[in-house]
Amino acid sequence: MKRLGILLSGRGSNFEAIAQNVLSGRLQCEIGFVFSNKPEAPGLARARELGFACGCIPSAGLDRTAFDLQVIDLLKQHGIDWVCLAGYMRFLSGGFVSQFQGRILNIHPSLLPAFPGLDAQHQALTHGVKVTGCTVHFVDENLDSGPILLQAAVPVLDDDTVERLSARILLEEHRIYSEAIAWVLQGNYRIEGRRVIRT
Ligand code: GRF
Repeated sequence: MKRLGILLSGRGSNFEAIAQNVLSGRLQCEIGFVFSNKPEAPGLARARELGFACGCIPSAGLDRTAFDLQVIDLLKQHGIDWVCLAGYMRFLSGGFVSQFQGRILNIHPSLLPAFPGLDAQHQALTHGVKVTGCTVHFVDENLDSGPILLQAAVPVLDDDTVERLSARILLEEHRIYSEAIAWVLQGNYRIEGRRVIRT
C-alpha cells in the first residue's frame, strides 16, 4: 500500500476529505504522516485526533533549504511515497521537489493557470470571470505551475462573496483531490510536456 504524506498549514479540510476517503476504504492507500509548519494549525490537531503520525516544525524565520531538509527527513523516516500539499503555505525548495520528483501533488482554488498564488477566489471575483474552480496539479519548482491532473469548474454568481464562492469551490476540491490521488496511485498516466494523459 502506498503511503501518503500530507503537508498542511491551516484548517485542513482537504486533509480531512482525503482522510475520510482513506479510512472508509474508498481511497486505497495509507496516510503515513501529517506535517504542519504551523503548530496551531487546526488540521494538525484533527490529524492527531484521528490517530495519524504527525509532526510539526515551526518554519518562521528558518532558512528554506535547511527547513525542507528536516521535513524531507521526517517524510523519509515515515516511509512516504507520495506528498500531498493541502493548504501548505510554503514554497518548496528545489531540493524538496527533486527528492520526491513527480510524486508531489497540490490543490489550488482556481482554474490554473488563471489566478495562481494567494487569495485565488478573491482574484477571480475581482477580475470578473464567470467561471472559476479548482486544480490538482503536480508540483515543480515554480508556484502553482506543474502539469495538471484534474480540474473542476465552478460558476461565479452575480451575488457571490469570496466566502460563498470559496465554499462552493471547496466542495469540488474535496472531490477531485481524492480522485486525482487514486488516479496517480494506480499509475495509469504518462506526462507529455505539460499534459498528463490517461493510459
Ligand atoms: C484550499 O482552498 C486549497 O485549495 C488551498 O488552500 C486551501 C486549504 O484549505 N491550497 P484546507 O486547509 O484544506 O481547508
